[in-house]
Amino acid sequence: MRISVSFGAAMASPFAVCRLKGRGSLVKCLQKVDPFLHRNIGTDVVAAQEERHGCKSLYAVQAEGQEQAERSVLISCHSRTNEKKFLKYISRHGDIKKYFFYESYGLYAVVEFANRESVASLFEGAAIPSVSHESTVPFKSRLLSLRNIGLADSTNQQSGQQCQPQTPIPINELIQRLSKEESIDQQITSLRDVYQLTEENSRLRFLVCSLLKDIAAAYFPECTIKPFGSSVNGFGKLGCDLDMFLDLDGISGRNATMPKSGLSLEYQMKRANSERAVTQSILSVIGECVDQFGPGCVGVQKILNARCPLVRFAHQPSGFQCDLTANNRVAMKSTELLYLYGELDPRVRCLVFTVRCWARAHGITSSIPGAWITNFSLTVMLLFFLQRRSPPIIPTLDHLRDLAGPADKSVIEGNDCTFVSDFSKIQLQSNTETLEQLLCEFFEFYATFAFSRMSINIRKGKEQNKPEVAPLHIQNPFETSLNVSKNVNATQLDRFVALCQESSWLLQQSETNAPRGGSKGKASKPWGLATLLLPSQIAGIKSRKKRRREPASERIKSLLESLKNTSQQKKS
Ligand code: CTP
Ligand code: MG
Repeated sequence: MRISVSFGAAMASPFAVCRLKGRGSLVKCLQKVDPFLHRNIGTDVVAAQEERHGCKSLYAVQAEGQEQAERSVLISCHSRTNEKKFLKYISRHGDIKKYFFYESYGLYAVVEFANRESVASLFEGAAIPSVSHESTVPFKSRLLSLRNIGLADSTNQQSGQQCQPQTPIPINELIQRLSKEESIDQQITSLRDVYQLTEENSRLRFLVCSLLKDIAAAYFPECTIKPFGSSVNGFGKLGCDLDMFLDLDGISGRNATMPKSGLSLEYQMKRANSERAVTQSILSVIGECVDQFGPGCVGVQKILNARCPLVRFAHQPSGFQCDLTANNRVAMKSTELLYLYGELDPRVRCLVFTVRCWARAHGITSSIPGAWITNFSLTVMLLFFLQRRSPPIIPTLDHLRDLAGPADKSVIEGNDCTFVSDFSKIQLQSNTETLEQLLCEFFEFYATFAFSRMSINIRKGKEQNKPEVAPLHIQNPFETSLNVSKNVNATQLDRFVALCQESSWLLQQSETNAPRGGSKGKASKPWGLATLLLPSQIAGIKSRKKRRREPASERIKSLLESLKNTSQQKKS
């Protein structure tokens, strides 16, 4: 998929730009857009005001993204569409605030209008497609096609859109790019820059959620569909899946306040045996609608018996693999937590991207479900490692809970999901370790971690004795009785540990950890992080039998640690 970055800023003055500045304008804009919408995401707006220390809360990001998406349309265009003529034509319906083109099985444009009325005006001017041999499902959506209206240019040069790649660059190209950097720290930041979601890609994710919401709104007009997971937690790599959450809290009894006295009315509602049964039936119906009526939605699978029921499908116009869930509020909380950790210190995201990329390059993680370590588990492992530094780089979840105010209190299905949302209350310790040191120490840490006895626990920031038999035990931060990495088998864990050992060893070798610049005109030889991403390099070490055993000091350290933990547990 390629995206053309042609934002509104580049446009001439006829297209008015109304930017959302802070709380007042966001609230006003929402009121202007739709009082109903305003009511619905009102709590998010309140949270959106909590921008402190230059850090935007995830609620603010979500509210802004959702609001922009409501005013946006997705238009399939002819590949030789002339950008200027296209904009002139579309802006007849109202001021355009931002727009961009991207390629995914054809050229598409995302157009964000300044006002929502422009979308209605665009709809009025749009025709129903006439097909001779097939019939169309008469469901109108904000996914449109630009038909032959004399806008196509005869040459490609005139079309004017600059398309940029939106899927991650191939690993070989990345290795080449990293090899040209001058330090391992630069390699790590460069990797993050190349892999992280672009602003356009994030907007497209919110737009797909908004398009889906239009389908679900046929039954539940007050619903919202929000992205969660790596699409919004700050750790998303271009091309990652789109996890969506159908939020019906506005209409469930969950937040209802009961009248104290007098007459009152209540809705009659059908009852079901359990909340899970309700979620399953809602997802079943919405899944059916997506399948039957959703333009561009293909390969719809209803996976309703999973621990967390979901509808999986591909959204062809965006190229996203989508997972739609409902009543999955704990996952929303863990998304918020990961986002917070990523905002606290820039090293967190840099290292998460690096470790995720390294793991993918060596088949430690996979896009196919199975006994592999998942990106989520890997991220929690990295967070835990950063909590174990001396001094710690990020605080424990228990500490974040202790800093929480009354408004932060959150108990979901009996699980305490409370943690502070005000970034300014969090005092960080001054750890000055470099990215290179931390990456090397991460490998060392997990090369010698006592996986057989200990569980990884970011709530306590300390390894705990394993409560159950599983090769890898990572306590779910909120549903504390669950193991995030329950699926991982011993073989996969062993591979991970072996790779950590090799990678740690490689990073300490003088021939690997210094730039090996090629002479003029010649490509630079892979070095540093680039070497770690070469599968052959790692495999080569094994055959040379250069595997380093864990240092005795580390083994003794982990033994002492586990003894200490055991005695502490006995005491408590
Ligand atoms: N999640 C969770 N517990 C799990 C698995 C997932 O709470 N055992 C939540 C996390 O918030 C996670 C989100 O669900 O971020 C989405 O899960 P998944 O798509 O597996 O992970 P992502 O973080 O989105 O990473 P990826 O880029 O691999 O999709
Ligand atoms: Mg995901």
